[in-house]
Amino acid sequence: MNNSAIGVFDSGVGGLSCVKELTALMPHENIVYLGDTARVPYGTKSVDTIARYAGEDIAFLERFNVKMILIACGTVSSVLMSRPLFENSSVKNYSGVIYPTVTAACAATRNSRIGVIGTPATIRSGCYGKAIRELRNDIKVYSKACPMFVPLVENGYIDKDDPVAKLIAEEYLEGMKREGVDTLILGCTHYPHLEGVISSVMGSGVRLISSGAEIAKYAERTLVSEGLQAEREERGTLELYCTDSEELFSENVGTFLGTTENTVISKCSVK
Ligand code: DGL
Repeated sequence: MNNSAIGVFDSGVGGLSCVKELTALMPHENIVYLGDTARVPYGTKSVDTIARYAGEDIAFLERFNVKMILIACGTVSSVLMSRPLFENSSVKNYSGVIYPTVTAACAATRNSRIGVIGTPATIRSGCYGKAIRELRNDIKVYSKACPMFVPLVENGYIDKDDPVAKLIAEEYLEGMKREGVDTLILGCTHYPHLEGVISSVMGSGVRLISSGAEIAKYAERTLVSEGLQAEREERGTLELYCTDSEELFSENVGTFLGTTENTVISKCSVK
């Protein structure tokens, strides 16, 4: 057993999709979350810049003596496949979203046609396609960058019937629909917050795989198999940090997590 917190980070509020699942699966764990809201989006930036930001985010979480770090950001996870982001880190248990998500998608598809949507950086890296081919080379992968989804989420345009969100989703997903995918990877952790809109455009026959939820399930499996779960009677605490104004961040936390019980929200600097 290990009562240290689990560290989670993302460029903004997207990683809360992972936190939501983590608190449901392991309510007794303490969680420290960093949303780098001052520098969001990461997904339109270069690999060098994303790697530098990620290094600072990791160093910030290390200050809390965390037992594990979850990169709840598809963009940083794609960079982790080519850059040793944890080379100098004291934290040995860490994961990005790619492999847990791909494993779930390969298990879910029935027609061997998987769609991947993500930020421009993630889609450009081809990381999901590579990871899928490592597991199964019979699967056809269709990818599409959806850069306008992140600002929609960060600004709260997430309602299933929101006309702006719907129009943008239709524009992005039309080609994907035509390809007949039966499984769609939400390869950016912001996208599960738009699940209602995405699902209504894709149709109920298409299974959506949330990268945020899959990395949380991976964390639970790892902590259990390594005997590193927290041992406490009470609910764990949730310390949430953002690098820009707490105002919008707090609003989003309320919307995405549904509760702010046991939660402390603070502004921080990662430099
Ligand atoms: N939530 C992020 C991801 O999973 C990042 C979005 C962004 O910063 O562009 O890719």
